[in-house]
Amino acid sequence: MTDTAKETPTAAAATGLRGVVVGASTVSDVVGDKGELIYQGYNIHELAKHSTFEEVAFLLWNKRLPNRSELAELNQQLSSSYALPAEVIELLRRSPRDADPIDQLRTAVSALEFYDPTARDISIDNSRKISIKLTAQFATIVAASDRLRNGKEPVAPLPETNIATNFLYMLKGERPSEHDAKLFDACLILHADHELNASTFTARVVAGTLGSIYASVVAAIGALSGPLHGGANTAVMKTLLEIGDPENVETYVKQALASKKKMMGFGHAVYKTEDPRATHLRQFSREMGEQAGESKWYEISRRVEEVMMREKGLYPNVDFFSASTYYMMGIPLDLYTPIFAVSRITGWTAHVLEQYIDNKLIRPRAEYVGPRNVPYVPIDQR
Ligand code: COA
Repeated sequence: MTDTAKETPTAAAATGLRGVVVGASTVSDVVGDKGELIYQGYNIHELAKHSTFEEVAFLLWNKRLPNRSELAELNQQLSSSYALPAEVIELLRRSPRDADPIDQLRTAVSALEFYDPTARDISIDNSRKISIKLTAQFATIVAASDRLRNGKEPVAPLPETNIATNFLYMLKGERPSEHDAKLFDACLILHADHELNASTFTARVVAGTLGSIYASVVAAIGALSGPLHGGANTAVMKTLLEIGDPENVETYVKQALASKKKMMGFGHAVYKTEDPRATHLRQFSREMGEQAGESKWYEISRRVEEVMMREKGLYPNVDFFSASTYYMMGIPLDLYTPIFAVSRITGWTAHVLEQYIDNKLIRPRAEYVGPRNVPYVPIDQR
């Protein structure tokens, strides 16, 4: 006789593993009730104010900040790693013009593995080298794919220049202002790591099977692409454009909430107070608006923030103010999520390194809620 299914799951499965600790890490920590984010012991506020993205990348990979000669060496390694194999450029060239840039990035990174004879060497030395190479190449892929879909040729990077400047340069074909490059560099710092978010967990699961860094990172890009994770920033800008005017905010947000629609860029699985990254990005959005003499998007964002706090008690997350910041930098909407990846590649690879160093296959259990002992019925009798 068939045993009936359980009606509802009782375990962590029902809550998407919220609060479940599944491993140890030094890479970063999210302190949800205090609104703190720490990379290898350093508070994100300090790093965003005083550091550079390259220093932070070194920190994530090596558990300490670099000295001058180590930083110079890293910069040199990054500089010599931007170029993509001609076959990968060709792949981007041949992909459909309307392909989503995050899918282009995922596909190109997957293809990069074909052209790296060391890809399956997961020794720590080699894995560090691949991490550096991928960090440079992510910037090239995102910039080149945008140019190619617009009928333009990719632009070679500037030597002796950091990733933030080079990314904007390779995207637009002209050197960004110092202000924009500095601000973009801080955006990269703020997105670099975030403990066991969905994409990082995904990367660690793949690395835990001793799959390659490429495989781990390709899986992570897939996880990042969803609107509940890295895809939220593009969705935020679409919402701001739909609202169109600060006067429309109140009605728009109330209607959205009444129809049970989620407002993208709000809420967080761990933070129960302000996301510390949003504190900086709010300021960046304001600065970019002032610089361009167009504060509308910042004003709309601020009003949305007020209404969301009043109506739902929800704080903005990292994606909310990054949307208007990137918009004011003239970056196309569908590049916001790939840009997240241009930064997060450092965190993903730091976690993959950590996983390789002390590996245990990640294999949790599911709580079975289906029936048992179901008698088998031959196909003709069903
Ligand atoms: N807009 C409106 N309501 C929201 C909301 C949002 N952005 N985020 C959460 N809520 C509400 C839910 O509707 C739910 O309300 P209910 O209890 O009345 O049903 C409650 O808050 C809890 O939501 P839940 O999705 O279970 O919270 P969570 O902590 O598990 O989820 C997120 C966190 C990030 C998935 C969620 O806040 C979300 O979907 N945000 C929008 C997407 C986004 O910005 N993602 C980027 C994250 S960095």
